[in-house]
Amino acid sequence: MANALIARLEDVSVSFGERTVLRSCSLPIVEGAITCIIGISGAGKTTILRLLDGLLMPTSGHVYVEGHDLCAMNEREINDVRRSISLAFQFAALLDSLTLGENVALPLRENTTMSEREIRLRVHSALDAVGLSHAGDNLPGELSGGMLKRAGFARAVVTQPKLVLYDEPTTGLDPISVHLITNMILRLRQRFGGTAVVTSHDLPSIYEMADYMAMLFEGAIIAYGPSEEVRSSENPIVQQFLAGSDVGPIPI
Ligand SMILES: Nc1ncnc2c1ncn2[C@@H]1O[C@H](COP(=O)(O)OP(=O)(O)OP(=O)(O)O)[C@@H](O)[C@H]1O
Ligand SMILES: [Mg+2]
Repeated sequence: MANALIARLEDVSVSFGERTVLRSCSLPIVEGAITCIIGISGAGKTTILRLLDGLLMPTSGHVYVEGHDLCAMNEREINDVRRSISLAFQFAALLDSLTLGENVALPLRENTTMSEREIRLRVHSALDAVGLSHAGDNLPGELSGGMLKRAGFARAVVTQPKLVLYDEPTTGLDPISVHLITNMILRLRQRFGGTAVVTSHDLPSIYEMADYMAMLFEGAIIAYGPSEEVRSSENPIVQQFLAGSDVGPIPI
């Protein structure tokens, strides 16, 4: 039996003015799995996350999330669907004047009617999952870059979204933090369930967490499938990218 999908792009194209960034892309997002999107800088990885989060409408094609066609909905309907999705941005910004705990609590205060007690429990659980349960009373200015990034993830998962979109979660971190964050994404998925889509350049980390991989090249998805299948793909573009070689079809 085919795996259930929580979202999918169907024949999606995206152009900004003259420039076409995505061409007829179709991408299934399997429920409960971690899908990693790879491709060189500027390939359109973040654009795909913005489509899935309803922040960007395609020039043509359809974006389905939980069976809803986002392209056929008005803003209020899209916002309803977005409640079950969370986008962890490449550069997540916390509010400097609020403690970590208050920052993580914000999405619950803004989008739910939970009691203060429930909010406290949820925030504690989310901070604990990212190894920051001791830092809830600290201000963002008192934390390192890696800790801020982890705090951003705690805020992204505190609402227990069905779909979490991570944009380059390990970029710019030291190898130990990369390992920590990779495990954290796996652990958050175990603890809160749900589905994750991750864009990344970090191959060891992708190999550790990906159930499915998709590779973008010149606006098209040139490979998609279970992680091992894509890794052993004979497509020379995939092989060159995964080998990190400057020799091959990818223009440098
Ligand atoms: N709002 C926009 N207006 C114009 N061009 C845009 C816009 N958003 C993205 N682009 C262009 O679309 C292309 C794909 O961008 P995107 O951010 O999706 O790439 P990416 O694969 O995430 O790259 P990176 O690995 O560097 O993060 C880039 O050339 C970018 O300049
Ligand atoms: Mg990007």
